[in-house]
Amino acid sequence: MDTFGFIIHPIDPKRDISRKFPLLAKLVNERQIYRYAPYFPPVYISEITGIRSAFSGKEIKGWFVACPLTPAHVLQLPEKRVYRKIIDTGRLAERLGAKILGLGAYTSVAGDGGVTIAKAMDVPVTTGDSYTVSVALQALYKAAEVMDIQLEHASAAVVGATGTIGRVCAELLAENVARLHLIGRKIETLERLRDEIVAAKRSAVDLRVSTDMSVLKESDLIVTVTSSMESVIEPEHLRAGSVVCDVARPRDVSAKIASTRDDVLVIDGGMVDVPGLVDFHFDFGFPPGKAYACMAETIALALEGRFEDYSLGKQISRARVEEITAIAEKHGFRLSGFRSFERAVTDEMIDRVRQKARPTHIEFIGK
Ligand SMILES: NC(=O)c1ccc[n+]([C@@H]2O[C@H](COP(=O)([O-])OP(=O)(O)OC[C@H]3O[C@@H](n4cnc5c(N)ncnc54)[C@H](OP(=O)(O)O)[C@@H]3O)[C@@H](O)[C@H]2O)c1
Repeated sequence: MDTFGFIIHPIDPKRDISRKFPLLAKLVNERQIYRYAPYFPPVYISEITGIRSAFSGKEIKGWFVACPLTPAHVLQLPEKRVYRKIIDTGRLAERLGAKILGLGAYTSVAGDGGVTIAKAMDVPVTTGDSYTVSVALQALYKAAEVMDIQLEHASAAVVGATGTIGRVCAELLAENVARLHLIGRKIETLERLRDEIVAAKRSAVDLRVSTDMSVLKESDLIVTVTSSMESVIEPEHLRAGSVVCDVARPRDVSAKIASTRDDVLVIDGGMVDVPGLVDFHFDFGFPPGKAYACMAETIALALEGRFEDYSLGKQISRARVEEITAIAEKHGFRLSGFRSFERAVTDEMIDRVRQKARPTHIEFIGK
């Protein structure tokens, strides 16, 4: 049977540790986790069963293995130490029998985006970033449709536009919207990206660059995908009626938005339905049968028998995004229903956002 391994790690440390070790999570505080987690060995989490291709009927199995580092560790510890821990975790997956390894969340952000890790492993490696781009944009376009936002007239933004995922999202989005804000921390890198998109001449989009989140007020559609440990989008940044697709883990969108802005639609980027009767034997926060797009990329490659390094490094190509989309769709992966802050988005919620975002009659006459 073909197999895969997928590395996860604690993003919200206490919550995520409690998912595997409830007692331990009660006994330790955040500071202790930060102090001792790097000394923890990699952790076997679960066997994943029941995945079956809708195309060929092929069944595969896999394993979740956990790297004990948090996002803060990945960003703050010496790079070599972070690589070592991720490689040790990958080795555990290899010993279990994985034929391809996926890097989840910050294990794909670390250092050179999987290149060093892939060199050290015997099995091929993927970050899952190509399918993550595809699913994020599919979700954004679907949300635009339900909110009656016409892409060709829309003003959009990519936050974290110079990152691995953000860059390709920006390239692809530029072909479909009227105006696109590229938002990041370094103006020169943003300007370089703008010039590359203009030089590719694939669209007549009005492209703007900014390091200031307040330009989000002009955006109907936002993809946010930074590697920030803190939220970067706050309630005051958003325009009524806008859609935000948050691909980042930890989230880029402040939890305050859930309680204070009922006139915007925030959706989690990257959730897909997995073909077959998948059982992850572990609750990573999604409803049964659903996976992150980066997990789905790893699984789709195993179903396709493509045991090769796939999405690696800080530059991924749109050709790979298109190819993995076709492979995943062939085997039966589909964009899942919307979720927002860990809850399913219902039609009633969408109607409420649309109502709240609509100017009232009095306001309308007053303008
Ligand atoms: N949902 C999924 O299935 C899935 C899959 C893979 C990854 N992810 C998540 O996606 C995110 C990005 O991954 P990536 O591989 O694209 O990372 P990356 O290549 O490291 O890019 C991250 C980008 O975020 C920017 N950034 C960091 N902190 C920021 C801040 N405070 N304000 C504005 N921009 C900031 C960085 O800017 P600088 O260039 O200035 O550093 C960089 O351009 C991560 O949160 C990761 O966990 C999700």
